[in-house]
Amino acid sequence: MCGIIGAVAERDVVPILIEGLKRLEYRGYDSAGLAVIDQQSLKSKKVSGKVAKLEQEIKDTLLSAPTGIAHTRWATHGKANYENAHPQISKELIALVHNGIVENYSKLRLQLEQWGYEFNSKTDTEVIVHLIHYHFNQSNDLLTAVRTSLQSIEGTYAIAVINPEVPGHLIAARHGSPLVIGIGIGEHFIASDIAALIPVTQKFIFLEDGDIVDLQRNSFKITNSGNPVKRAIHISQLQANAVERGQYRHYMYKEIFEQPQAIKNTIENRIHNSSILETIFGPSTHKLLKNINSVQIIACGTSYHAGLTGRYWIEKFAKIPCTVEIASEFRYRNPLPNSQTLVVTLSQSGETADTLAALNEAKQLGFGPSLAICNVPESAIVRMSDMVLMTHAGPEIGVASTKAFTTQLLSLLMLAVVLGKHNNMDHKIEHRIVDAINILPAQIENVLKLNSIIEQLAGDFADKQHALFLGRGIHYPIAMEGALKLKEISYIHAEAYPAGELKHGPLALVDSKMPVIAVAPNNILQEKLKSNLQEVQARGGQLYIFANHRAIMQELDYVKVIELGEVDDIISPIIYSIPLQLLAYYVALIKGTDVDKPRNLAKSVTVE
Ligand code: G6P
Repeated sequence: MCGIIGAVAERDVVPILIEGLKRLEYRGYDSAGLAVIDQQSLKSKKVSGKVAKLEQEIKDTLLSAPTGIAHTRWATHGKANYENAHPQISKELIALVHNGIVENYSKLRLQLEQWGYEFNSKTDTEVIVHLIHYHFNQSNDLLTAVRTSLQSIEGTYAIAVINPEVPGHLIAARHGSPLVIGIGIGEHFIASDIAALIPVTQKFIFLEDGDIVDLQRNSFKITNSGNPVKRAIHISQLQANAVERGQYRHYMYKEIFEQPQAIKNTIENRIHNSSILETIFGPSTHKLLKNINSVQIIACGTSYHAGLTGRYWIEKFAKIPCTVEIASEFRYRNPLPNSQTLVVTLSQSGETADTLAALNEAKQLGFGPSLAICNVPESAIVRMSDMVLMTHAGPEIGVASTKAFTTQLLSLLMLAVVLGKHNNMDHKIEHRIVDAINILPAQIENVLKLNSIIEQLAGDFADKQHALFLGRGIHYPIAMEGALKLKEISYIHAEAYPAGELKHGPLALVDSKMPVIAVAPNNILQEKLKSNLQEVQARGGQLYIFANHRAIMQELDYVKVIELGEVDDIISPIIYSIPLQLLAYYVALIKGTDVDKPRNLAKSVTVE
């Protein structure tokens, strides 16, 4: 989704802005641009398309300047074209980049048109820049103009603004969209995501809703509702090379193979003497979980599938009811609050607008304490929650989530144990789960050895339009995640069904052209699942069965079994998700799609 970077320095900031934009590319975008103040005049460049194109065009113009703002745009209002790209500029004087959505833009546009402003784009953003221009004319002060303008804006925003009449100043503000100040030596930066600034600083300040900052080379002033405020400085541990692709062809491939290490990092310091430590969720966990009698999980996308899987563990081991809901639905459903319900948000980025809003809604309604399971330490969801468990997967750049998903699953398994201990769970069960967790990295290494087998298998899917994924019990959400992965990066229409539901509709779709992928580990539901697979076989469907052992079904031309070997039942959802990630990856590779940045999708969805 849209990305912002800005800088005020003594040196030329153009290479910093371009590098920052490249580091924001993973979020998903379709146009890019920048504006700088060069010797008191405003210069800008925009392209429809990739940052590399912008970089090339800038090289040709030899642009260089000490103050500038830049943006990657993911289209919401108006097509992904040159006119709609940011920066948006008003009367060659004010340049602005914006993340978020202006909800009352039609009304503001009418007003501005009456005041004589001409609109060159279809964006909601353009109203903000003209408003600032209008108020700058009144006050001749950029900070005042921004503050006054924002009072009329309804919706969400993170903005950065420059004006050549006040060179050496960059004004930025946030309301509902993340924005962070980067503190350098004799220079300051602004960005929507710290990843953009890691090459230039590790010192950050996270702005809060309502904050406006006046950034200069040697100082910055943050105000909120017109009053000066102080915000804490955070030192990030993120290394610049942690977000580099190295020798790997794609981030997604790198991230799939990082899973054994990511899982080890999630486990580290969380288990002692075969016991999962309650304090991993924060110092007040014991008090906060004491009276919990139910769990409400809220998430979007892949994180939602992790939640659906976690529900089985929570109900089985902690023996308390758990419901899981898509955040965008939860926030508008008027759910009935219960102060003894633990609200768990799952989010890789910690910035997903719907998940944030749903958490807010749960708090307002009077639900119980909140726990965030998240991969980004300084994110909004983490800062808003009473308890936190960081997944420690390391930065995930591929839009299609892989290692963040498996580490979320592990985190939910640990949560189930901690909740279980509050509910008199037998120690033997905890030890049994801890044993399974400890062998997880090795089991993942094993299953990754299927790499070349799955690469070959992928050829069967390249010409397919549709695919059906089946699972039962706790492996049904894993089938859902497998279908989502294939859909996201190979653009094949894929659906997942609980296998028992096959005969209630989807069986009508099965013919020799429909590949059916079954997640079929050796568990108490396997026999039932086999009967469902026979139903597919009887109708000539092509079966691809992921199972512990080849013996599950006789291999025929149209029945392929992918053998995963002995897998511990407790952790099998984590293990079985990995070959499905590889399958989606290889199918996308054959189809030649943009694996890491699939069309129309964004890594971090910061708008509703
Ligand atoms: C986007 C991403 C998905 C992700 C979802 C939720 O749609 O493309 O990969 O699962 O957002 O993101 P979150 O950061 O909240 O886990």
